[in-house]
Formats: sequence, C-alpha cells, structure tokens
Amino acid sequence: MSHVRIYEVGPRDGLQNEKAIIPSGKKIALIDLLSKAGFEKIEATSFVSPKWVPQLADAEAVMAGIARVPGVAYAALTPNLKGFERALASGADEVAIFGSASETFSQKNINCSIAESLERFKPVLEAAAKAAIPVRGYVSCVAGCPYEGDIAPAAVREVAARLLEAGCYEISLGDTIGKGTPDTIAAMLDDVLTAVPAEMLAGHYHDTNNRALDNVRASLDLGLRTFDSAVGGLGGCPYAPGAKGNVSTSGLAKMLAEEGWQTGLDLERLAVVETYLSTRIAVTTYRGEAAS
Ligand code: HMG
Ligand code: MG
Repeated sequence: MSHVRIYEVGPRDGLQNEKAIIPSGKKIALIDLLSKAGFEKIEATSFVSPKWVPQLADAEAVMAGIARVPGVAYAALTPNLKGFERALASGADEVAIFGSASETFSQKNINCSIAESLERFKPVLEAAAKAAIPVRGYVSCVAGCPYEGDIAPAAVREVAARLLEAGCYEISLGDTIGKGTPDTIAAMLDDVLTAVPAEMLAGHYHDTNNRALDNVRASLDLGLRTFDSAVGGLGGCPYAPGAKGNVSTSGLAKMLAEEGWQTGLDLERLAVVETYLSTRIAVTTYRGEAAS
C-alpha cells in the first residue's frame, strides 16, 4: 500500500484563529494527545509577533510543556529571524516560513510585499541551515485571495520556486480560504509542477466550501503525497476573512484508508483527541468527524 503523510497543523492553524485565548495547559494536552496518534509531524505553535497573533503568544510555554514523543517532529511558524531564534531556543524540530502568491495578503498577513518577504526569509534559512533545522515554506492564496480574488497559477509557481531555491525542503500550498475546486487545484498544480517536483509539495487545503477532500484526490492524481490537516477541522487565519477550517484530520485519514492509502494514523486515538477538543476546548471552528 502506498503511504501518504498527514501533517497535523491544528494546534497552530486552528488555535491561532480562536477568539478566546486558550490556556497553555489545554494546548499542551491537545498536542500530547496528538503525539500518540501516529503523526510524524505536528505544527505546535507560531513564533510570530504576539501583537499580531495574541492567541499564540505562549509559544515558549507550549513548547516547554509538551511531552515529546520520539519520532514526532514538532514544528513552528517563524516569520523572521526573531521568530526563528525563539523557535530554536524552544527546541523546535523544524520551522516554517510563510509567503503568499497574493501581494495584498502578504501585506495584510506579514506586513511586507512578496519580494520583501523573500528577503526577510533569507536570514532565517541561513540560521536554520547552521542549526541543521529543516525549513518548510508555505505559499498562501494558491487558489484565490480574500482581497484580490483569483490568483494566477504562475504567481504561485514563482513564489514556490523561489522558496525551494532558497532552501526549503518542502513547499506547502495553502488554499487559505478554501476557494479551490479539483479543476482549479489541478490547473495550479500543473503549473507549479513545472518548477517543483511533486515529492517536495504538500497540499494545505482549507475546507470552506467542502471541497478539500476532492482537492486532495485531484492532488494525489498529480503525485502529491503530503497533506496538511487539522484535528476537528480547526483552522483559519486571522488575516484572511472567510478562512474557515482546514480539512479534518480524521475525515482525511478515513477517506485515504477507504481509497487504499496508508497514513499510519490511529483513528481510535484521533477520536480521543476530537472528544477532548469538543468537550474541553470550546473551539469555534470544530467540525469533528471521529467523535460520536
Ligand atoms: P511588523 O509589525 O512589521 O514587525 O510585523 P516589526 O519587525 O516592525 O516588529 C514589530 C514588533 O513586533 C516589535 O516589537 C518586534 O520586536 C515584534 P516592539 O518593538 O513594537 O515591542 N516582533 C516579534 N515579537 C516576537 N516574535 C517575533 C516578532 N517579530 C516582530 N517573531 C510580522 C511583521 C511578520 C512580525 C507580523 O506581521 C506577524 O507576526 N505576522 C504573523 C501573522 C500570522 O501569524 N498569520 C497567520 C499565519 S499564516 C497562515 O495562517 C496561512 C497558512 O496556514 C497557509 C494557508 O492557509 O494559506 C500558513
Ligand atoms: Mg492555513
């Protein structure tokens, strides 16, 4: 059976978008439950400006509090060198820089142009290389932007190619507001694949219009084997109006299992995490699958 990697981003992409500040202890408990469900990688938090995303201002406390499970890499977002230094001091196993295919979203999300962001990421990549920390690169708005509407596949390809050249080991393609359909995702991928091989791409599909699973299928057809998802379908971006949850981890794992793919995830343990989420953390985007 062929393997598909599911990269869990719920503690970061999900909890960054909550109105209420969730206590660090509950975030730690969530990550600890996820650590037992079979993931290779869990995006635990972000070392961004606490003024921009107060929901994740406790990144150090979360990283210090989790019970690390051998074989699980704990990742964090780092928008600049300051964020990378914080992540390194907190023992992050890998980090992610995050750019955009949309100029307006870049300005709204990280307060700089696309070109400036690529410059800003260079010292992060240099410092990460010195510390032997793998860097993942996100490209947001790959299937549409909340401010600009349609985004040309060539714009996605350009940023993805630049992030790859700069040293990212993998490029995660973010359908930030869930606008993609199998046709538009395939058209975007056809273009991106001329610059980045499928094994270095991941699909990060928000499920606003309930098309994320179909978009995963279209991506599998084009050779992608890594997908981001969030437990309970959590997710969104405070700087992308209309960005709802990511594709639900258990929904994705079940679909993949039914279609003959192996993920290594334990659905019963995922159900335990979803029960914890729905009963102990009053998240607003919860759209669980496994808890019943
Ligand atoms: P800025 O205001 O231009 O930054 O923000 P600055 O360098 O001028 O610094 C302003 C203040 O922030 C200073 O503090 C800095 O020290 C501090 P002051 O002197 O005023 O007291 N600061 C920091 N503090 C802690 N950690 C840091 C840090 N950096 C600066 N790393 C900045 C620029 C990039 C920092 C800001 O815009 C930011 O943090 N943005 C993050 C927004 C964000 O996290 N968005 C959500 C994640 S992206 C996403 O969800 C999409 C994704 O899921 C894929 C998809 O779905 O498409 C990945
Ligand atoms: Mg996202």
